[in-house]
Parts: sequence; C-alpha cells; structure tokens
Amino acid sequence: MGSFEDLWRSQADIGRSDAGGYRRFAWTPADLECRAWFTDQAGSRGLAVEPDRNGNLWAWWGDPRAGDAVVTGSHLDSVPDGGGYDGPLGVVSAFAAVDELRSRGTVPRRPVAVVCFSDEEGARFGVSCVGSRLATGVLDPDQARALRDLDGTSLAGAMAAAGVDPDRLGPDPRLLDRVGCFVELHVEQGRGLVNLGAPVGLAGRIWPHGRWRFEFTGRADHAGTTRLADRQDAMLPAAAMVLASRALAAELGAHATVGRLVVEPNGTNAIASRVRAWLDARAPEESTVRRLVERVGTEAGWAGSEHGVAVRTTEESWTPVVEFAPDTGPFTGLAEVLGDPPILPTGAGHDAGILAGVLPAAMLFVRNPTGVSHSPAEHAEPADCLAGVRALADTLEYLACR
Ligand code: GLV
Ligand code: MN
Ligand code: MN
Repeated sequence: MGSFEDLWRSQADIGRSDAGGYRRFAWTPADLECRAWFTDQAGSRGLAVEPDRNGNLWAWWGDPRAGDAVVTGSHLDSVPDGGGYDGPLGVVSAFAAVDELRSRGTVPRRPVAVVCFSDEEGARFGVSCVGSRLATGVLDPDQARALRDLDGTSLAGAMAAAGVDPDRLGPDPRLLDRVGCFVELHVEQGRGLVNLGAPVGLAGRIWPHGRWRFEFTGRADHAGTTRLADRQDAMLPAAAMVLASRALAAELGAHATVGRLVVEPNGTNAIASRVRAWLDARAPEESTVRRLVERVGTEAGWAGSEHGVAVRTTEESWTPVVEFAPDTGPFTGLAEVLGDPPILPTGAGHDAGILAGVLPAAMLFVRNPTGVSHSPAEHAEPADCLAGVRALADTLEYLACR
C-alpha cells in the first residue's frame, strides 16, 4: 500500500472549507463522502465492509464470526470548522497499521477490524457518540430517531435519506460479543504530550461530562420603542447563564462552555423572544458537574424571574466517568511493549469511552504541538503520526497474535 501521507491526503479535502476547517456533519454529503472513502480504503485492502444496524462501518481482516476480535478505529465526522485530526487520525492510522502489520508479515490469530463510528461529535443532532451509544444500549433508539437538527430534519429522516434503515437502530450485543477489545488512536486534545516530550501516550481517564439545553422564552418587541421596564428580553437571562457558567466552573474546578446559541427572531432591532443555549459541562468528578449544572440552573432561573422570561432546562446527554485500565485484562503488559508511554487523563469524550462500558477498551494519544482541538489549529507532525501508527501496529500485534 501507499505511504501514510498518501493515505492521509486521500481524505484530507473531504468537507473542508476554504478557511481550512472541516464541516463533516453526520449524514450530510461530506459525511457520506467520508463513508465512501472508508469503504474504498477497506476494499482496496481486501477487508470486508459490514455496516452495522446503527450506521457504523466495520472493515474485517479475518472472519468476524471467529470472535474475540481486536478492533481499532475512530470517527470521520467533525464539529463545525473542526480540525482535520480529531477522528480521522484514528481511522487513517488504523488502515496504516493494518498495512504495517502486513508488511511485517504478521498473521493475526484473531480477527482484526477497523471501525468508523457514526456521528461521534453530535454536531448536527446534539448527542455525541450516537453510533456507539446505540450499539451499547446507552441511547434509546426512539430517542435517537427523534433527534432533530436545526432545520427540523430528524436523525431517522437523515439516516433513511442516506440509505440506512432507522427502524433497525438499537443495541447490538451479537456484534459486540464478537469484539474482544477496542483500541482507539486519537490526536491529543491538549498539551500533555508536548509538555512531557513524548510523541505517543495512553489514555487514563475521561472526565464525566454532559450537555444541557437551556431554553429562555420571553417576548419579541421593538428595540427602539419598548421601555426597558416593559421588556421580556430572553437574551438577558441567557447572558447571565453564560457568565454564571464560567464563574462557577472557575469556582468548582470544572469546565463549562456555552458555544452554541440559537436566537429568535435574531434581528438586530428586535428584542429576543427565545434563546436556546447549550451548556457543555465537565469535571474530574460527577458530583462537581452535577453541582455546577444545578447552580447554573438556579442562577438562570433568578435571572429569568427578574426579566419576565421563562427558563427550561433539559439534559440532552450524560456520559459517566471512564476509567481506562491500560494495564489489565487483554492490555496487561501493553504499556511495556510500547515503552511505558505516559498515561494521560482527558476532558474529551470518545467512542472508546462508551465502549469501555461493555468491553475492554484503550486509547492511544498522538502529540498535538498546538494543544488545540475542535479548531483548524489542531495538528500532528508527520513523524508523530508515524510513531502513532507504529504504536498502534505494535498494539494490534500484541493483542491479536498472542
Ligand atoms: C468530543 O470531541 C467531545 O466533545 O468531547
Ligand atoms: Mn471531537
Ligand atoms: Mn474524536
């Protein structure tokens, strides 16, 4: 097969804007192009592609029915104007690791699969890791089908339009029973490896995190003629909620982000009648996240009362803490094989974290010199990408050949 660079380039223009960021939202043409790319790459390696009932794509090296498979991969969708590495690095490196193993003459004793999970970022329908949550049964299929994007298109409708039957969504124990373990390689989304001077690390722990929708309902009116005292301006408690989130995050040692607002009617000279604001909250401990969200809710409620605005809060998703155990079960001895790389905690969610709830899962991180992610500034140097591929190939060899 070709070089890692050629493989990387073969997908690098899909869904990329002129400004350099990616817009690969689930089930849009860019995502479908990514999925076609995945199928082509698998086909060119003689790997049999089997889409599962939840829209995830599995490319098998060996017979899936043999069981105890060693699976690797990640996702190809992106956040709005995301970087090129979050997700794709794991999928491209997975194919490159298969190539590397074949060039070493490795003959796995267990099936190996490369997987592309659908809708990891949740950028379009609001819930992250949809494919892995559905497969593991932590997302209710009815709830998933009913998710809607901002244009009102349901996830069921978007999947059906892409040729995937939404009636089949749901837990997939038969497929997951065939998986012995999962390893996801991912670009690091911070500066841990930069600071340690290491190209590759292992994941230790994922912070518990969730997403909450705050809905502020006031009354539209004229910006020039409505006395301040007569307004029910939905923007004001929304703004208070944003500032409270930040202040409480600082106080509690958490991360809180409001990166998405939908304002109605969204006119410069009209008072906002409705604002929807999404709070992303994370912390080392679940109790901290819960306390933060409760206190943000209380502050938003007070601000709502002050301005005659109704406030409603809905939890859209919740992900408990994940403790990867990179030196237990099938991974016992792996750290030594990899030269004892650093073990790093992360505040970012991953399909590996969802799968860790039902089967042994691990993650490899590749150094990101900018430390920036969910932005076009996200980066990995070619030499570090190759170090990642070698580490992943060593990992797959260790897991699949013993
Ligand atoms: C996934 O990238 C997340 O939001 O943590
Ligand atoms: Mn991401
Ligand atoms: Mn990711």
